[in-house]
Amino acid sequence: MPRRRMIYEGKAKILYEGPDPDTIVQFFKDDATAFNAAKKAVIEGKGVLNNRMSEHFMTGLNLIGVPTHFIKRLNMREQLVRKVDVIPLEVVVRNVAAGSMSKRLGIEEGTPLPRPIIEFYYKDDSLNDPMVTEEHAIAFGWASQQDLDEMISLALRVNDFMSGVMYGIGIKLVDFKIEIGRVFEGEFQRLVVADEISPDSCRLWDIETGKKLDKDVFRQDLGDLADVYAELATRLGVMPKKSIAAGPKLVD
Ligand code: TMP
Ligand code: ASP
Repeated sequence: MPRRRMIYEGKAKILYEGPDPDTIVQFFKDDATAFNAAKKAVIEGKGVLNNRMSEHFMTGLNLIGVPTHFIKRLNMREQLVRKVDVIPLEVVVRNVAAGSMSKRLGIEEGTPLPRPIIEFYYKDDSLNDPMVTEEHAIAFGWASQQDLDEMISLALRVNDFMSGVMYGIGIKLVDFKIEIGRVFEGEFQRLVVADEISPDSCRLWDIETGKKLDKDVFRQDLGDLADVYAELATRLGVMPKKSIAAGPKLVD
């Protein structure tokens, strides 16, 4: 197959032109980065696992009526998605204190929050993705008040869905990040969940043991990230059956 034209290379994915003007092919790389790419590694098989897991979550969201950009998985590393205008805000939802919130506010990691807390971060690596308020987003034209209201409502629906999926396999959804894009349908615009949903962008703790099953394993050097992602994929029932080009480590 001729190589498609590359549109953009990010830290974990490459975007190629899709077969139609309103589609894009997302290629999941094996690269893992943390702390704005200050820490980097290649984790063999990660791209294959995240492609599967993101497919699983996005398909479920589409099925329950939460719109996403996901169309279909094409192969082990690629999926076809709708082309969207990504809103330059990362939307974080937290159920339990952890990570930067614990650090910033001095709240002990693991403290349950009285309600889901939503935060916005401005997507700009050169600024280290600073946290911003709705006022900033509106003043600088990144999103309207109506967009922000819709983004919060989408994020809370994703939180309920993902919390339920994780609870079903004995895992607590501590927090996660999503990205949201605009699609235009004639005169109208709609907001849809975009990018990926994977353990790269969630915190997931085993309910029984507290074991971390997400990218914190890489950020904090807690073990083999590919093993942890393979365990999660197995528990979700989406572990790729064939070799995932990762050597014997990830297959039984
Ligand atoms: P934080 O506690 O570091 O702010 O992260 C909150 C959630 O967002 C956590 O699940 C990890 C995810 N996240 C990303 O997906 N990308 C990022 O660049 C950062 C900083 C966090
Ligand atoms: N995604 C960011 C990076 O690649 C930070 C993180 O996830 O910790 O550097």
